[in-house]
Amino acid sequence: MSETLAISAQGLTKRYDGVTVVDHLNLQVKANEVFGLLGPNGAGKTTTILMMLGLTEPAEGSVSVLGFSPTREPLKVKRQVGYLPERVGFYENMTARENLRFIADLNGISYNEANQRTDEVLKMVGLTESEIMEALGPKRKIEKTVGKFSRGMKQRLGIAEVLIKRPRLVFLDEPTAGLDPKGINQLLDLIAALPKAGTTVVLSSHQLYQVQRVCHSIGILAKGKMVIQGAIDKLGREALAGGRFQIEVETENPGEKLIKVIRGLKGVLGVEAKGNVLSISTEADLRRQVSKAVVENNYPLIQMKIQEFSLDDIYMKYFREE
Ligand SMILES: Nc1ncnc2c1ncn2[C@@H]1O[C@H](COP(=O)(O)OP(=O)(O)O)[C@@H](O)[C@H]1O
Ligand SMILES: [Mg+2]
Repeated sequence: MSETLAISAQGLTKRYDGVTVVDHLNLQVKANEVFGLLGPNGAGKTTTILMMLGLTEPAEGSVSVLGFSPTREPLKVKRQVGYLPERVGFYENMTARENLRFIADLNGISYNEANQRTDEVLKMVGLTESEIMEALGPKRKIEKTVGKFSRGMKQRLGIAEVLIKRPRLVFLDEPTAGLDPKGINQLLDLIAALPKAGTTVVLSSHQLYQVQRVCHSIGILAKGKMVIQGAIDKLGREALAGGRFQIEVETENPGEKLIKVIRGLKGVLGVEAKGNVLSISTEADLRRQVSKAVVENNYPLIQMKIQEFSLDDIYMKYFREE
C-alpha cells in the first residue's frame, strides 16, 4: 500500500436493541489528513467514533486504528488517540492552565514535561495568557477561570486537553456545534493546522458547509450507511455531475465561429455565451483543448476556470429525499 492508513474499517456494524444504527461501514482515513465524518443528526457518527475508540463494541466487522484493534488492544489505541466528545466538561473555577495540568497528571505526564506541553498547546489553540486577557477584557484580569470563557474558548481548551498527550490521531465530535462564526473559523483554522504537526483528524459534523474547507476527505453517513466517501474535489465532480465538468472561459467578444468550434470538440456537451464568458459543459477535463481552440482562433484567453461542485451540492443530492 502506497499511502498509510490511520484508520481502516470493514463491515463495522452496531445494533441497539436489535436496531442497526451503524450498518456494515467501510471506511478509510489516511494518515495526516483531516477526514470529515458527515451526516445529519442520528446518522451514526458518534456511535462510529465510539467503536473506533474501543468505547463500545461492534456487533460485526472490524476496525484497525493506527494498526491496532480497539476491541482487543484498547490501551494501545487510547495511548495514541485523543477524543473530544460532543459535550466537554471543565473545572470552571480553575484556569485553562490548571485544567490542562490536571489532565496531564491523569495521563501520567511528569511535572516538567507537563509545564512545557501546557505552554505548547495553549499557544497552538490561541489561549496564551495575553490572548485570554484580550478576550476577557482588562477588568477581569484577576479572574481568568474557565467559567468566564466563551463557548469558542472552551472548545479550543478542549482541543488543548486532547493535544496534551501528543496524539497521532484525534476524534473531534461536532466541535463547532454552538459556536458563532468567528469561533467556528478560529476552531477550523486550528484543526486545519493539526496534520502539519503530525496529527490525523477525524472531524464529525452535521453542518458540512462549515467544515468543508478544512477536510481533505469526507464520508457521508445516512441512517448508519456510508453513502459516499473520498477526496473532496474528486467526489464533487463524480458524485454530482456523473463525470461532467463545467469549464468557464473569459475572452473578448466571442463570436459564433468560436462557439461553433468549441461545440465541435470531442467531449463537449454544450456551450453557453454570457458577454465575454463562455460556459462549457464537458464529459472530461478539456481545458487544454478549449484553450487551444480559443487561441488558434485569435481570441485572447483572459481567464479559465473549471468548476468544482461544493460539498453542499453533494449533501443536497444525498439528503434532500430524507
Ligand atoms: N446508547 C444508545 N442506546 C440506544 N440507541 C442509541 C444509543 N446511542 C445512539 N443511539 C441511536 O443510534 C442512532 C445513531 O446515533 P448517533 O451515533 O449518536 O448519531 P449522530 O452522532 O450521527 O447524531 C440514533 O438513532 C440514536 O438514537
Ligand atoms: Mg453525535
